Amino acid sequence: MNYLDRNEFNFQPSPKVVEAIRNFDPMQLCFYTRIYDQGKKSIVSVRLSEIYGVPEEQVLLGYGGEDILKNTVHYYLTKGDNKTIMIPQFSWWYYNRIAGECGGTTEMYPLHETEDTFAYDVDEVIAYANRIRPRMLLLASPNNPTGNCLSSEELSKIMENVPEETMVLVDEAYASFITTDTHYIAPLVNKYSNLIISRTLSKFYGLPGLRMGFGFMGKGHDGFLNYANKYLGYNRFSEAVALAALESDDHYRKVADQMDWGRKLYHKELDGIEGFKVYKSVANFILIKYPLKIKEALQQALADQDCKIKFMSDPGLESCVRITLGRPEQTQTVCDTIKRIALNA
Ligand SMILES: Cc1ncc(COP(=O)(O)O)c(C=O)c1O
Repeated sequence: MNYLDRNEFNFQPSPKVVEAIRNFDPMQLCFYTRIYDQGKKSIVSVRLSEIYGVPEEQVLLGYGGEDILKNTVHYYLTKGDNKTIMIPQFSWWYYNRIAGECGGTTEMYPLHETEDTFAYDVDEVIAYANRIRPRMLLLASPNNPTGNCLSSEELSKIMENVPEETMVLVDEAYASFITTDTHYIAPLVNKYSNLIISRTLSKFYGLPGLRMGFGFMGKGHDGFLNYANKYLGYNRFSEAVALAALESDDHYRKVADQMDWGRKLYHKELDGIEGFKVYKSVANFILIKYPLKIKEALQQALADQDCKIKFMSDPGLESCVRITLGRPEQTQTVCDTIKRIALNA
């Protein structure tokens, strides 16, 4: 089966990752990490601190990005009376769920469909946040399922202009596929105490099964850090694999280039067919609008090819599919199949 429905990784882990798994000393699992003797939480947070230039105490670790998102939303929405969180209109369903779990009130702000993307209207987000003064503002960049992102200038503008009491949570799970710049992170988290940026090893580093997420936050959140940090340390096996992944950017960059080939193929082959629109994507998936009348034929044809893609059901996106960018031959099969069904309709 070709799983192209959940934004997973259809390529090989890096040789360094494979080596780290083979060479892992099982005796390490017989003891807790000793790194807390140095006042640090993990060998991974130490390395991330070096790579991103953010002090170790401001580095977050979690069981996937989902854990970081859940911890922050649960913590900040349950402190004090303000339980409002702003969430993008088209976004990962899980944001709503974690807000609901702790009695949060969600306010959906729009993303605007343009010629080739769904875009944030930064001024509108700022005005909205100043009007309702939410406890949290969630931004996803790149956003799932629309594939658009905020530029670092846009993020800076938002931070400069939203109320200080609003915790801004930026989900960057899908970062690095196209936009490799990370230089904005350290200055922003150093300047704004109300900022949290969440990332993961599940997407660019292709290790969703490892369950390792990381993030960066502004200064002065001891209460949250006590709540979220693990007193007895992190999974030592995952730590070893994570360190190897973080040293493998060259390998994962080559994979991202193959995904980019796929991205371009979808644009070339499907843009221009009546009823189709291929949205610009900077993530490891692509959103494509198709004529709803071919849905059943398309589902059948893809099933015949053992390909699973995501047929969207979110209000406003019912006529879209979201396809994970897989290996070139997988992309070719899916693209050919869609084109064949579309042209025979
Ligand atoms: C938008 C978004 N954020 C975060 C995640 C979290 O992934 P993980 O928990 O594997 O890091 C996902 C997973 O699909 C996602 O789609």
